Amino acid sequence: MTNENNIFLIGFMGAGKSTIARAFSELHGMEIVEMDQLISEKNGLSVSDIFARYGEEYFRNEETELLRSLQGKTNRIVSCGGGVAMRPVNVEEMRKSGPVVLLQAKPETILERVRDDHGRPLLENRKTVASIAELLEARNPAYLRAADIQIDTDGKSAEQIAAEILQAVESL
Ligand code: S3P
Repeated sequence: MTNENNIFLIGFMGAGKSTIARAFSELHGMEIVEMDQLISEKNGLSVSDIFARYGEEYFRNEETELLRSLQGKTNRIVSCGGGVAMRPVNVEEMRKSGPVVLLQAKPETILERVRDDHGRPLLENRKTVASIAELLEARNPAYLRAADIQIDTDGKSAEQIAAEILQAVESL
């Protein structure tokens, strides 16, 4: 692993991708790419408003386009939206430019982290452990297929997780 590479953080909503990207960037001087934020800024709308106005497919295409635009860029820590790893073409794009790190958390932890947030259209009206567990289970095979590295985040600090990621990435 050299700073020629990017690192992609994938995982379910509330798994800590944005928080860990920030910690990692501070510790290791990599530039953050916050996918949701960039897509939101480009469209001048929140993620929820993009879903409501243009539909999910449009948002998914924006994600793929943004990933493609990262080819040729280096030293980025990319905080992916929770649905990015669902499209095989996205996984291909990520693998071309760096390791893919899956952040995992229990449904209870996820619920705690997303409870008061209303910016995630797929979780509105689904904020129960059972509902989150169901969606997580449906997505898990794709997350696991995409991942070069898996990290459990429950009960760990951002710094601890960032250190684990660095160690795992360096030993790839
Ligand atoms: C989504 C996750 C969200 C955002 C959108 C869809 C998903 O990102 O991209 O609401 O399908 O899991 P976060 O994982 O950063 O919350």
